[in-house]
Amino acid sequence: MSRMVAIASGKGGVGKTFLSATLAHALVRRGRRCLVFDGDLGLANLDVQLGIAAAVDLAQVLHGRIDLAEAVIHHPSTGLDLVVGRSGSGLLAGLPPARVAALGGRLRELAAAYDLVLLDLAAGIEPPCRILARAADEVVVVTTDEPTALTDAYAFVKVVCDPARPVGVVVNFADDREGGRETYRALARACRRFLGLEPRLLGVVRRDPRVADAIRVQMPFLARHPRSVVAEDIERLAATLLEPAPIPPPGPSR
Ligand SMILES: Nc1ncnc2c1ncn2[C@@H]1O[C@H](COP(=O)(O)OP(=O)(O)OP(=O)(O)O)[C@@H](O)[C@H]1O
Ligand SMILES: [Mg+2]
Repeated sequence: MSRMVAIASGKGGVGKTFLSATLAHALVRRGRRCLVFDGDLGLANLDVQLGIAAAVDLAQVLHGRIDLAEAVIHHPSTGLDLVVGRSGSGLLAGLPPARVAALGGRLRELAAAYDLVLLDLAAGIEPPCRILARAADEVVVVTTDEPTALTDAYAFVKVVCDPARPVGVVVNFADDREGGRETYRALARACRRFLGLEPRLLGVVRRDPRVADAIRVQMPFLARHPRSVVAEDIERLAATLLEPAPIPPPGPSR
């Protein structure tokens, strides 16, 4: 069965695009068919991180020139399929909600050909972002241990998530695993207490300067630094994502 997973955050720059591309690569290496959709509606950069010069992109889809299926490009070195955006076009950011919803619906149809579709969203809780997140089966919120990132991650969960849509958390830029788990516990406590939601910890990804190196040379991270701590963390993250989600405990009675 195909799964559509939105990779979201409240605060920008927490590593969504890097994680989407690298996690998807790890999933392909586990034999899954994966599509990554660049849903950053104003500042797309998935293609830049992977060093791709795409002949087709989402802008052409939104101009009605091609169908979404025709905007899918194959990235041979990772085995990923991608739909890339067009950075700075501003086109998507101004799209009316009904058209964003239609795009999400079309993406869902396309998802049938894959095991997993990862939607790399823009940061924040603007309407296009919420609409695309709601088109997904589950939401993964990326945060760091910075108070601003945590507060914004909580705001995202509050605005977008409900008990019907599982929420996973990835703590990125962690100094160590225990620190990352502590950050998760702080977010989970607030979600449990104020929203009656129990987000699942999908993984902790440690801080590593080799991430910047791979992006600088525009190479897939797992190919460039296969034995780094981040590669190890992302492999674990991929394994956890593929585990069946635990059955949520009954919510508090209100
Ligand atoms: N675990 C990590 N260790 C070190 N650097 C990292 C890590 N994860 C991401 N980065 C760096 O953080 C920067 C931001 O990453 P990325 O572009 O993926 O964030 P984003 O959440 O997609 O940002 P935006 O909100 O602008 O879309 C990148 O330059 C990347 O090199
Ligand atoms: Mg991004």
